[in-house]
Amino acid sequence: MTAAADPAQELARGADPRSRRTGGDVAVDISHLTYDYARAGVRALDDVSVQIRAGEIVGVVGQNGSGKTTLTKHLNGLLKPTSGRVAVAGVDTAGKRVQELAAYVGYVFQNPNHQLFASSVEVDLGFGPRNLGVPEDEIAERVEQAIAFFGLEAVRGQHPYRISFPMRKLVGIAAIYTMRPAIFVLDEPSTGQDHITTRKINELIGRLREEGSTVICVSHDMQLLADVADRLLVMWNGRLIADRPPRDVFADRDVMAQTKLEPPQVTEISLRLRSRTGALPALAVPELAATLEHALARPASGGS
Ligand SMILES: Nc1ncnc2c1ncn2[C@@H]1O[C@H](COP(=O)(O)OP(=O)(O)O)[C@@H](O)[C@H]1O
Ligand SMILES: [Mg+2]
Repeated sequence: MTAAADPAQELARGADPRSRRTGGDVAVDISHLTYDYARAGVRALDDVSVQIRAGEIVGVVGQNGSGKTTLTKHLNGLLKPTSGRVAVAGVDTAGKRVQELAAYVGYVFQNPNHQLFASSVEVDLGFGPRNLGVPEDEIAERVEQAIAFFGLEAVRGQHPYRISFPMRKLVGIAAIYTMRPAIFVLDEPSTGQDHITTRKINELIGRLREEGSTVICVSHDMQLLADVADRLLVMWNGRLIADRPPRDVFADRDVMAQTKLEPPQVTEISLRLRSRTGALPALAVPELAATLEHALARPASGGS
């Protein structure tokens, strides 16, 4: 590998390696979306506009109650705008049922208990593609792939409610992966403390990126989003207050303070040393190491 192709070295020289990433056609088009939970008298979304391109990996962050789940539930038609418009893959969700949109959008619920209802893990994994009319031999193949990828061999015959909660969350994600949706929506897939789940989700998003899928992932895990996301949508009190690459969001002290978010530890170290390294904030250990080595290798100023 040449130095020029190494993203960490690129960062050390002051260029942002992520800036090369660009998306394709518009996959999600949200225009002036406002949503009221009418009976509760709550305005959960207030004039949100955003476009997401095919192949982009987008993180959604913000405090509890800021509107993240309400926003993502508009993507598969579970909720319909009070005003404004939501289109996925060019289709206006307003006149569409959830089942119709399932062909484009796979939605992984925050709580897997709202999603899994079959008598066994295996049956749950086949349910989605069967509903979409995928041929049986293809379903069987996808189910085997998902069991291998998510490490579900030991629980494949068990009832989803009899397995551990983190495992059930993986089954909920796997049950959407078998549908191969073009747009993959994950609402808080990891709890942040469960390393196996987090690593799997990181791996899954990498695979989805290679396959050209669009991913929208709500998470409190800033390191996970630093690792995978091209952009972060920052929600605050029902409003979208920032829509920028993770590096820019983490470096924006005002946005971070307003939303009470904390950057990943690596990024925090990098930000604190920024006046001395002059480098862009690092998102991962190799980037931080490269910027520090670069700074330390410079001859000390004011000497000799
Ligand atoms: N079913 C509901 N009925 C009434 N209010 C709700 C409902 N779901 C969410 N809300 C309110 O809408 C706002 C946004 O909630 P939500 O989208 O769940 O936020 P987040 O996912 O960021 O925690 C909050 O004020 C929440 O209390
Ligand atoms: Mg939520």
